[in-house]
Amino acid sequence: MLNFSFQNPTKIVFGEGEISKLESLIPQGKRVLLTYGGGSIKQNGVYEQVVKALNGSDFIEFGGIEANPGYETLIKAVALVKQENIDFLLAVGGGSVIDGTKFIAAAAKVDDDPWGILTGKVKVTDALPLGAVLTLPATGSESNGNSVVTRRETQEKLPFSSPLVYPAFAILDPTTTYSLPMRQVSNGIVDAFVHVMEQYLTYPVNAPVQDGFSETLLKTLISEGPKALQNPEAYDIRANIMWAATMALNGLIGQGVPQDWATHMIGHELTALHGMDHAQTLAVLLPSVMAYKKESKRQKLIQYAENVWGLAGSDDDKIDGAILKTRQFFESLSVPTRLSDYQVGAGHIDALVAQLQAHGMVKLGERQDITIDDSRQILEMSL
Ligand code: NZQ
Ligand code: ZN
Repeated sequence: MLNFSFQNPTKIVFGEGEISKLESLIPQGKRVLLTYGGGSIKQNGVYEQVVKALNGSDFIEFGGIEANPGYETLIKAVALVKQENIDFLLAVGGGSVIDGTKFIAAAAKVDDDPWGILTGKVKVTDALPLGAVLTLPATGSESNGNSVVTRRETQEKLPFSSPLVYPAFAILDPTTTYSLPMRQVSNGIVDAFVHVMEQYLTYPVNAPVQDGFSETLLKTLISEGPKALQNPEAYDIRANIMWAATMALNGLIGQGVPQDWATHMIGHELTALHGMDHAQTLAVLLPSVMAYKKESKRQKLIQYAENVWGLAGSDDDKIDGAILKTRQFFESLSVPTRLSDYQVGAGHIDALVAQLQAHGMVKLGERQDITIDDSRQILEMSL
């Protein structure tokens, strides 16, 4: 196992009705900015529950944070935070609202151009505290220090990470997910699944605790995911998916093991240039990355085939079978796995590769051996 130090400071408050605990979770005397997205929380009763739970606390609102949160929008919230002397942020929504709110938290404390937070030019040394009410299990953003922001003007989608933007608390009420459109339920399952794969499907370092946790999360998503699509209001199914998605990217399973993330980094360029949903990019790219890196991931692919899918036969059969099962799983959730399904063709690959180069994504994967040329081949395999 590799060395690590691990701390996850987010307090998780899980279960039906737990939004009512909000007032006690926000430190007293704070002036709060409640952030949200395009309005789903005003249609499914979550907004009412939040306002009731705030119980007359001092708050104002900022709505309209888009899916793939927009830099141009978030900058307006930063101005509002400064103007209104906000000292606590409450994100209510999915990964986009939470990621966007993390960016607001960090940008409110910098004097330089806040875009530098995303290009790496500005170091995050301070941030406003934030809390989250999660309505879409997928990203793990509710208890990690990551954020991904899109600048539409330049078609760039860039991540930043800081221990200072972990939410102080996250409320996870599975009933808030009943109103999700099926496309978002599927997207969330695929995203969480791929988060586990990015931390698991690398090479062995004798880490049976991390591997066992990862395999359990994958099997939970495989068994419960399709059920959630069939029975949208089955509480236990939603609860298990919600907890699996949080555990997939709260840092735990990735400690002490190599991590890949090539699928995510190439995927960000597909969202930025072609507007594909985050999970759609992953469903297309992961099977290609698995196949392309078959030799260097060989041992873990065999372990994955046996322990997650119960496959037998020759090693090569297991590997090919596991890649096929993965693709079929995504397809069974109605997430197509070919670029052509999203009107992206061979003629688009040059521009995607140029963006990867421009963003320094030239040594990807757990061995940093996925060069620009390899990314090109992975994209070509995904057509
Ligand atoms: O905006 P509203 O009206 O709320 O609607 C949203 C949005 O249209 C809707 N929705 C959310 N909860 C709902 C609901 N509709 C009905 N009922 C509910 N309960 O769903 C749509 C998608 O929401 P979004 O927040 O964009 O989805 P998701 O949670 O999948 O977040 C995706 C973003 O997170 C980033 C992605 O790149 C993408 O920008 N990621 C963040 C990560 C992190 N912070 O660690 C890691 C991930 O790999 C990912 O990159
Ligand atoms: Zn993801």
